[in-house]
Amino acid sequence: MAAKTTLLLAVSFLATMLTLSTSQVLPPPLLTATCPLPLELSPVLLTDQLTKLAASADYGNMVHVEPAAVAHPRSVEDISLLITTSYNCSLPYGVAARGNGHCTKGQGMVSDGVVLNMQSLSTGGNAGTKIVVSSDRTFADVSGGALWIEVLTEALKLGVAPVTWTDFLYLTVGGTLSNAGLGGQAFRFGPQIANVHEMDVVTGKGEVVTCSANKSSELFYGVLGGLGQFGVITRARIALAPAPQRVKWARLLYSDFATFSSDQEKIIANNAHPDSVDYIEGQVLLDNGTPNLWETSFFPTDAIPTITSLVNEKGIVYALEVVMYYNPANEAIKDQQMKQLIRQLKNDRGLAAMKDVTYYEFLTRVPVPDPSIPLAHPWLNLFVPKSGVSQFNDGVVRDIVMRANITVGPVLFYPVNRNKWDDKMSVVIPDEEIFYAFSLLSQSNVGDWQKYQDQNAAVLAYCEKAGIKVKQYLAGHSTQQDWIKHFGPKWAGFQQKKAQFDPKFILSPGQKIFN
Ligand SMILES: Cc1cc2nc3c(=O)[nH]c(=O)nc-3n(C[C@H](O)[C@H](O)[C@H](O)COP(=O)(O)OP(=O)(O)OC[C@H]3O[C@@H](n4cnc5c(N)ncnc54)[C@H](O)[C@@H]3O)c2cc1C
Ligand SMILES: *[C@@H]1O[C@H](CO)[C@@H](O)[C@H](O)[C@H]1NC(C)=O
Ligand SMILES: *[C@@H]1O[C@H](CO)[C@@H](O)[C@H](O)[C@H]1NC(C)=O
Ligand SMILES: *[C@@H]1O[C@H](CO)[C@@H](O)[C@H](O)[C@H]1NC(C)=O
Repeated sequence: MAAKTTLLLAVSFLATMLTLSTSQVLPPPLLTATCPLPLELSPVLLTDQLTKLAASADYGNMVHVEPAAVAHPRSVEDISLLITTSYNCSLPYGVAARGNGHCTKGQGMVSDGVVLNMQSLSTGGNAGTKIVVSSDRTFADVSGGALWIEVLTEALKLGVAPVTWTDFLYLTVGGTLSNAGLGGQAFRFGPQIANVHEMDVVTGKGEVVTCSANKSSELFYGVLGGLGQFGVITRARIALAPAPQRVKWARLLYSDFATFSSDQEKIIANNAHPDSVDYIEGQVLLDNGTPNLWETSFFPTDAIPTITSLVNEKGIVYALEVVMYYNPANEAIKDQQMKQLIRQLKNDRGLAAMKDVTYYEFLTRVPVPDPSIPLAHPWLNLFVPKSGVSQFNDGVVRDIVMRANITVGPVLFYPVNRNKWDDKMSVVIPDEEIFYAFSLLSQSNVGDWQKYQDQNAAVLAYCEKAGIKVKQYLAGHSTQQDWIKHFGPKWAGFQQKKAQFDPKFILSPGQKIFN
């Protein structure tokens, strides 16, 4: 991308006269001296400082890059025109889709280019409609800018829902499909990218392509987990299933990692059984001097002193979380199955609690953060192969994280199985049948994140030295060399798809893969 260009509000004299005489819209900004934007886009582009400032921050609050303009596309055509104009230009500008800005390392930002506010995009011709459930209720056509909470709400009106979820639902469909969309249902149903039938994508050449496993499959598999590099997802067809009404939800505590992970692995091994649990995750509770909201809100009040003293004594306690779905008609059976499962698990005696809530309450368990408290989120998300997980627990969780004693925020740790992922997709995962998702979801005051990034770097350095072949999820690699290493054998294909679908490196430059 060219060096910072000044924004000029000008297009050719004739064109200006034409617009001003027919409507009140202002002429569009000139992004670079050589790429005047089409007049049709004037009403879609915002260049005021406040809007640009909002697009130069994300959930991480560590990277700030200012775009030249923010577009609120009304249609797929608007997006296509914006990208085609850049593509046709001798000095193309970058275009970065922004879902809900919930990545943490500037992946959705662009310097001197255009940020696409995806949430303004509807589906089909229906203004305002972002979700259309099929008449047989087996799938929904969803705008790439729809939030998962919106998909849930609409689908539930018809008694159906997607089958696999992230922990937090104020994320967009296009945003999670560009990564993986991982949560506690993935061991059974795969990540969200494995539950998409079809997509509409605007490529880096501005072409609008409908793709699926059978049609333009290169693009389909490329885009899933593709970090926004090959196209903007404008519509996704998401698989639906009948929604359960309620859930049995349990949390169990372990002071021993081997016992904890062995119980987790036994549960996920049973994923093909009709009576399998429907959700499993795990967390690491640290003795960090702050009350852990996660445990205090779930366990009965009289259990808290026991838990607190166990965490104090051990420094670390592992918490396994399982859920079984049910409908009132089969409550007795589910209740029995859950109790039977809990009896078989080898958690520390007595340290278990169970709740019974609606499916909706369970899925919306992670609240929307309070925007009036600005925080930085120096996160590290890793996939750890099973063969190295015990060493990882010793070398990373205990020797680095527990010793440093700086981590505030959830630390997730749970296994998933590779056979629910499709290797044709762009997402990169370890080369083992079982791997663990480990997330260090640190938070800090706005200017105070460096020590967390240093800790993250120490974790990665340890894994490198110990030969634990971890892969980063939601990675923030900053050099192409690091990305080449990340992709490993998939790099050649990834690069080839870039040349095919975005040869001028227009899309999502904030990922720093090609730019
Ligand atoms: C509180 C919280 C909880 C989370 N929980 C989970 C979780 O449980 N599981 C999980 O997997 N992830 C989780 N995430 C991470 C989340 O998946 C990423 O932040 C992801 O980027 C989606 O966020 P977004 O929709 O805001 O997309 P953005 O962050 O805005 O965009 C992410 C990237 O995708 C590109 N992009 C966005 N939309 C499109 C589109 N329509 N087409 C093509 N490219 C696009 C962007 O350019 C950018 O590079 C969580 C994040 C937060 C903040
Ligand atoms: C881009 O270039 C192609 C081929 O020259 C042309 O057909 C098309 O109209 C141009 N589109 C825009 C928006 O500049
Ligand atoms: C792709 O085609 C195969 C048969 O050729 C069919 O079984 C399958 O359902 C199709 N998949 C999609 C997503 O259309
Ligand atoms: C971590 O620090 C807190 C105080 O900030 C303290 O209460 C706690 O005991 C420490 N934990 C460990 C494992 O050192």
